[in-house]
Amino acid sequence: MAQAGVERRDGDKMTRRGLLRNIMWVSAGAFALQVAVTGLSMFWPRKVEGFGSVIDAGPLENFPVGSVTRVRDGRFYISRLPEGILALYWRCPHLGCTVPWVESEQLFICPCHGSVYEPTGHNIAGPAPRPMDVMQVEIRNGRVLVNTGVIRERARHTPADVTPV
Ligand code: FES
Repeated sequence: MAQAGVERRDGDKMTRRGLLRNIMWVSAGAFALQVAVTGLSMFWPRKVEGFGSVIDAGPLENFPVGSVTRVRDGRFYISRLPEGILALYWRCPHLGCTVPWVESEQLFICPCHGSVYEPTGHNIAGPAPRPMDVMQVEIRNGRVLVNTGVIRERARHTPADVTPV
């Protein structure tokens, strides 16, 4: 009887030890896996969306001549001119306020200090030192793609700023 009890107790000790050993190995394995996943994720290309990346503003037919369309995710306006497409960064070149498009006036009018811009982004009144900045536009497969990571200041509006359609 006693012999069987000792054996059982020894067996219990081994089981506990084995259990602790297993827990330790599982923990170490989980930690190593987490380190490996974190390390590998640094080399994995991430899908970047929103401001700073290329934004698909939509199909070209969504932008009829004369329209100005706000694209909130990219912080720009698509201004559809007769000669093509212009992507205007909505940040005022004066002190950085967001410039709204005022449909009734057919102008961009900054609410902060009153700078006024034409649909080309050209400044015509107020303290703004230059036209609204432009973003790089590409028309691909009939869609308007705007690279919000490439913002260009300009001294004045020129036809070269417009992406032909
Ligand atoms: Fe727009 Fe001053 S910030 S006019």
